[in-house]
Amino acid sequence: MTVYGNYEDTLRQVLGMMLKEIGGEPSSDGSDMDKRPYEHLNGRIKSDESMREKLQQRGLAETPENALRAVHDSIGIRIICSFLSDIYTNIDYIRSLPCFEVISEKDYITKAKPNGYRSYHMIVSFTAPFADADGSVPGKFFAEIQLRTLAMDSWAALEHKMKYKKDIKDQALIVSELKRCADEMASCDLSMETIRQLIEES
Ligand code: GTP
Ligand code: MG
Repeated sequence: MTVYGNYEDTLRQVLGMMLKEIGGEPSSDGSDMDKRPYEHLNGRIKSDESMREKLQQRGLAETPENALRAVHDSIGIRIICSFLSDIYTNIDYIRSLPCFEVISEKDYITKAKPNGYRSYHMIVSFTAPFADADGSVPGKFFAEIQLRTLAMDSWAALEHKMKYKKDIKDQALIVSELKRCADEMASCDLSMETIRQLIEES
């Protein structure tokens, strides 16, 4: 049995419903005219191991209720966009959906983390026709939505991979080079946005 107990299946169903809401319905004529502006849309349930670790770190008992209520990223969704402005189009769209309530936001795009990490994070509560950890039906389920450009995503993936390499000599150089790459990629994102605008105007 995982830390999610009987809620494991519910969480998977809720994740599926959330992805469907964010992804939008495919248009009836099979064209992708109605497609939402993103390149990739991924979702995951936090692994049993990571959730238990997070609860331990916070000094909380490893119960399904704490996993669903005290921690807000048992469900994680990532929206990867080609262009910066697409991120804000998706944010506005999510805000407009009645089943989503935005609980909190972190704008690591306007204000990047000191290491160079960029992304827009939203903690949302999603209403779905299942019992939640309070026993309410319909229930409210928390999720973390991360919105990024392709450039931000590739930087984060590489940085994450390299975090696990221990005993690196010259830590300071690596940290500052990673930061420089993140800033250069952010500058490219701005240029690509401008190029798109120029094309659209012409
Ligand atoms: P926790 O998720 O409990 O640690 O809360 P927090 O307040 O630190 O959340 P934050 O929004 O800063 O980060 C949550 C998630 O964003 C992480 O689980 C990662 O997926 C991603 N993230 C945040 N910072 C970094 C970073 O420096 N590098 C990479 N690769 N990912 C990051
Ligand atoms: Mg963190």
